[in-house]
Amino acid sequence: MTNPDHPITPTWPGLVRILFLALFLIPAAAGPALCQWCSCDLEGWSGPLIFDRDYNPKPAYTALSRELGGVGDTNRGLRSLAPARLGIGTAMRYQAAIEGGRYMATLLPQFNQVTPESALKFGEVHPHGLAWDPAGQTGYDFSRADQLIGLAAANSLQVRGHTLVWHGFLPDWVMGASRDQITPIFTNHILRVVGRFRDRKGGDGQKTVVAWDVVNEAVNNDGELRLHDEFWGKFGGAEGEPAKLEFIREMFETAHRADPEARLFLNDFDCFTNQAKLDKVLALAAWLRDNGAPIHGVGFQTHLTATDLGIGAKVGEVARTLEAMGLEMQITEMDVRFQDCQGSEETQAQVYGEVLRACLMAGNCTSFTMWGFTDNITWFEGCD
Ligand code: G3I
Repeated sequence: MTNPDHPITPTWPGLVRILFLALFLIPAAAGPALCQWCSCDLEGWSGPLIFDRDYNPKPAYTALSRELGGVGDTNRGLRSLAPARLGIGTAMRYQAAIEGGRYMATLLPQFNQVTPESALKFGEVHPHGLAWDPAGQTGYDFSRADQLIGLAAANSLQVRGHTLVWHGFLPDWVMGASRDQITPIFTNHILRVVGRFRDRKGGDGQKTVVAWDVVNEAVNNDGELRLHDEFWGKFGGAEGEPAKLEFIREMFETAHRADPEARLFLNDFDCFTNQAKLDKVLALAAWLRDNGAPIHGVGFQTHLTATDLGIGAKVGEVARTLEAMGLEMQITEMDVRFQDCQGSEETQAQVYGEVLRACLMAGNCTSFTMWGFTDNITWFEGCD
């Protein structure tokens, strides 16, 4: 169906088939609703990352290599090309990392920083705690986190800890807790999790866990603090904003108490494409900074599409705004999908290159992390 030399550009027979599928088969076969985040449902389309499903570098990889001064091939990995100040990172999927093989053989030469994709989340490390556990000692399971942090340390990879406070991936006992129990539960959780890895060092003697996404996705897409979902709703509706701000400030203070050397970030998504959301995230960062929270920067997840050409200008503008605020910028979860099958591997490569270029030009951009690196392991997998 597609041109084998360029899996994105369909040939005429392919176009006819796509049209037939689009008109007759997909609507019928798609069931009640297509996966909302599908990169593209059609067979043969590329995924959102920089290596294909067979670990071959894509045009996006070539673009990143060239932005870093390389010649576009994998002989010199991205990590060896990157300036010392810049973490070049990827989300690290537990099962694939433990199995090693081509996954780790591809990862190690390219990245100097990893983010455990799920192993450090509340639902993974603290799934079974008591609804009310003053000592904060029960119900922890660090087995996967210990394995991934150990793997990173053994390979002298830095780690971005992700994430301490998030409304996603929470066990039922947290969802069932009262507002008054939420602060001690998360205080205990942060002290235990951050404290556990605080002194871990790599073979190079360097600190392994260098940063934490303390609070993830605190702002919703209409530019307001999240106050109406099951977790954040515990702080009440709009009248709960002061209590929510105070809670977030306290969580940053707790993370700093648990590891005074770690860099602490607010992390969110869609900020480069949603001005209202960006404004609120920056206002929250400023409020935290002005109210004594030990916040070091803002992480931008950067889940983009292959038609987001020109996004680099926005990334540069935001970096300058944060620099004026005395804060770091980090690109924390970048991937570039073919939303509704729009775009090409060439436009995907341009989007990756633009964002990295903007990060390189901004002295306060300290991490360029992608949410995976090979198309066969991505959070979009549910759509294949
Ligand atoms: O670990 C269990 C495994 O034991 C079980 O067999 C398997 C089947 O049910 O599930 C595994 O847990 C899955 C986990 O990933 C680990 O692979 C969860 O079901 C699954 O929901 C979870 O999805 C992750 C999601 O966050 C929720 O935590 C995605 O892989 C991950 O890419 C995604 O990442 C988020 C960032 O944290 C925040 N920004 C958005 C981004 C994409 O949603």
